[in-house]
Amino acid sequence: MRTFRIAPSILSADFARLGEEVKNVIAAGADIVHFDVMDNHYVPNLTVGPLVCEAIRPHTSAPIDVHLMVSPVDALAASFAKAGADIITFHPEASHHIDRTLGVIKDAGCKAGLVFNPATPLSFLDHVMDKVDMILLMSVNPGFGGQKFIPQTLNKVRDARRRIDEYTAQYGGEIWLEVDGGIKVDNIAEVAAAGADTFVAGSAIFNQPDYKTVIDAMRAELAR
Ligand code: DX5
Ligand code: ZN
Repeated sequence: MRTFRIAPSILSADFARLGEEVKNVIAAGADIVHFDVMDNHYVPNLTVGPLVCEAIRPHTSAPIDVHLMVSPVDALAASFAKAGADIITFHPEASHHIDRTLGVIKDAGCKAGLVFNPATPLSFLDHVMDKVDMILLMSVNPGFGGQKFIPQTLNKVRDARRRIDEYTAQYGGEIWLEVDGGIKVDNIAEVAAAGADTFVAGSAIFNQPDYKTVIDAMRAELAR
């Protein structure tokens, strides 16, 4: 039985009360804080930087999963590691030197991962599987919360699961498979069945008054 993790995206949280929001959502049963960083260059939207990561760090002991939608990547990745990130992922096409960027993240003591847009091929993984702790598949085009899940992603989840299982059967270790975008109570089971173990959900959780009800319903779906 796979271990499932729920990672609320703070993009849909109340930014005026971010520390409290993070604390509340973890108390409601979430496992990981998903922290979306947008630069108005790689994606057409602008969010927050390392200062905000550092500000929420004392409010939770849960892992902070920083999703960098930025270009260039390396300097910001190092700043987020200093700001208390546990996991840092980036989009391979946003870095000129993917292997080097993975090294920057791991040398800073964080887990590292690559993020794939719906149309980005998984072949970027071919020569770096040994440096990857997480694969993040976007099930929407990055830049905004509250978009609709792209069903074609399910085939990609199956493909990524196959790659992870083949790699870890041969070389050992653990690689998480996270899916991000449009995840709700009514599709999380299908995404899990395709092979995901970590689920980002922003609007599905933060747009409801009671986070625990949503997270419990997601877990019930995952236990089916
Ligand atoms: C989109 C972000 C997502 C987003 C998910 O670019 O990477 O993490 O916040 O939001 P929902 O769950 O609302 O699709
Ligand atoms: Zn994200």
